[in-house]
Amino acid sequence: MTESPVADLSREAAEAELARLARALARHDALYYQGDAPEISDADYDALRRRHADIEARFPELVKPDSPSQRVGAGISEAFAEVRHGVPMLSLDNAFSDDEVRDFAARIARFLKLPGEELIAFVAEPKIDGLSASLLYVDGVLEVGATRGDGRTGEDVTANLRTLGEARIPSRLKGSGWPARVEVRGEVYAPTDAFTAFNAAAEAEGRRSYANPRNFAAGSRRQKNPAIPAGRPLNFFAYAWGEPAEGFSETQAGALEKLAEWGFPTNPRSVRVEGAEGLLQVYRALEADRATLGYDIDGVVYKVDRLDLQARLGFVARSPRWAIAHKFPAQQATTVLEGIDIQVGRTGSLTPVARLAPVTVGGVVVRNATLHNEDEIARKDVRIGDTVVLQRAGDVIPQIVAVVPERRPADALPFAFPTHCPACGSEAVREEGEARRRCTGGLICPAQIVERLKHFVGRKAFDIEGLGEKQLVAFHERGWIREPADIFRLARDKEQLTALRAEDGYGETSVANLVAGIEARRTIALERLIFALGIREIGEQTSLLLAREFETWDSFDAAGREAAAGLPSAAWTALANAPGG
Ligand code: IVH
Repeated sequence: MTESPVADLSREAAEAELARLARALARHDALYYQGDAPEISDADYDALRRRHADIEARFPELVKPDSPSQRVGAGISEAFAEVRHGVPMLSLDNAFSDDEVRDFAARIARFLKLPGEELIAFVAEPKIDGLSASLLYVDGVLEVGATRGDGRTGEDVTANLRTLGEARIPSRLKGSGWPARVEVRGEVYAPTDAFTAFNAAAEAEGRRSYANPRNFAAGSRRQKNPAIPAGRPLNFFAYAWGEPAEGFSETQAGALEKLAEWGFPTNPRSVRVEGAEGLLQVYRALEADRATLGYDIDGVVYKVDRLDLQARLGFVARSPRWAIAHKFPAQQATTVLEGIDIQVGRTGSLTPVARLAPVTVGGVVVRNATLHNEDEIARKDVRIGDTVVLQRAGDVIPQIVAVVPERRPADALPFAFPTHCPACGSEAVREEGEARRRCTGGLICPAQIVERLKHFVGRKAFDIEGLGEKQLVAFHERGWIREPADIFRLARDKEQLTALRAEDGYGETSVANLVAGIEARRTIALERLIFALGIREIGEQTSLLLAREFETWDSFDAAGREAAAGLPSAAWTALANAPGG
């Protein structure tokens, strides 16, 4: 649907449009806060909110008391006891460009009537993409921990928050000098590693996996049974407070130091800087390091450092005038699912891969995304022709988060997962308890052969210079390489090397380099050889462990043969019982 510019709307059209946007925002808020499963991207959501705000700005008489601009977040769900926050938990206004940040700093200087040349000091903090929590301490003891809810009233999730542990959410404040009543606020989040490991295990065991760390943290924090979050490694950063309204320091930077002294983790990348240009420098540094922080951030929050100035600046509607969130460009986007291809892995597992109308997500053009497995396709009800929400987080493979049901065409096709391998036609079976179907073709399956060969020459295995995926596929198509040993035969096969020059246009030097690359790898470290075999469950770490234990190929090989014959050697038994063995 094309939207008319706000400036062209009549009063009647504006009223109807506000009602439509309010309904849409309420729906997406509910999905975001209660279902933990957003359907539209953050960027699309922000666009809806902006349009709503722009229309209200043009027609102030149409602002209703229950307008989304007068509310924060969504309502609370029924399952938990209600907690009224001592001081409301508000949200932040957003800035999307450098100029909006300069405007923010200029607005503050004007409001405070500061002389033009005086730079304002700010604290710039990573904007953690998690869930906010408020922890009330009375006389230093944790009384109640709550979610944000609608900003005034949240849910009592004390038991769940306690499972984060003393080092993150202390049951008793450390140090001294804390106010008699203090509401410590911050973000519960899932570290990227823990999230990835949780999802991998969940997928392998056929349990529910999550689209991103934020949904994972949300799902965990709201579990009714606190035993469940206890097994989920969540973390916490403190960055604000509710009561006491006057604070407990003269500056935000000082308050962060106090929070750290009382036993809370505070973000090591929060810094005090001066002026808009100082803020923008922090933004660029964090944007560059974003993928390696170990947790998701979706922007940088800028806060006026002096609390007396914060008090003078006060609030407008639902957000403080003294702070703003400078958002990173969207890492989510919507696009059309054009088809689903099936990829056959090294061990025969079939993975559905979405073929997408190309779209830019966080500065990268994305054409494919993983759909994990057939249950995921069914759970998300993904159909060919659907408009889907795509997400790219750090350097992980892009994923499809959800379908946009309003945009489903009448002829959208449900996907029938193949029961036969698309590469060799063998039956593809799904064993009890497995999330994936597997091709039963073994070594007659050309896709499995090529994947095994790719693994064999991969960087962590034989790492043969000059023999990458492209060359390997070409040599396999010619029938020269069917198994690893053929690689070493090729290097000494005069006929094949001549053909390379004559038919494939290889020059003398490239042939010499290829031969040298292969010959250089006739001897490699044992752990590389074990890893190269591509045995299921034997990754890099286990290969190293095995190599240390057996020391030579001969003893590893002999132990393997004995074990296969039901005669496990002492070393094999020791290893099988070792941690991680
Ligand atoms: S300050 C009155 N600081 O962003 C302002 N918020 O849109 C209180 N967030 O609800 C918030 N990192 O969940 C603040 N360093 C940070 C933050 C942060 C993440 C979240 C928080 C808040 C939302 C605001």
